[in-house]
Amino acid sequence: MTDFELMAAAEQARERAYSPYSDFKVGAALLTKRGSLYLGCNIENAAFTPTVCAERVAFFEAIKNGERDFEAIAIVGGKVGEKPTFCSPCGVCRQVMTEFCQRDFRILLGTKENFTAYTIADLFPLSFSPQNLQ
Ligand code: THU
Repeated sequence: MTDFELMAAAEQARERAYSPYSDFKVGAALLTKRGSLYLGCNIENAAFTPTVCAERVAFFEAIKNGERDFEAIAIVGGKVGEKPTFCSPCGVCRQVMTEFCQRDFRILLGTKENFTAYTIADLFPLSFSPQNLQ
């Protein structure tokens, strides 16, 4: 799967967002090293704190399916009724990525027309990781 296709999958996943409180829709497409794809969207809640980001929905679905080796994630945001736009992953999602990914895990941000590839090492330096507990 190309980076463009991964971004396009994130844009599709974004359409499933349940975000009546923020009106901000996020989609994520997570690619495993063996080529499987897991999609996520943000799911909000009237009590606010149970809200889950698109990235974690994708990761937890993948983990539940036995996946442990991850290649890349594409993330797309944007207000309801507007075109997809750039969305940077929150700190909690960066911590979850750190739990399951190598430092060269790729994070694609932007839209399918215009995106940039980062690594988790770029976006989350000096992170606390499973190695810190060994
Ligand atoms: N959100 C995500 O899904 N991913 C992020 O990386 C940033 C924020 C969601 C959470 C909430 O539903 C909405 O965007 C506004 O914060």
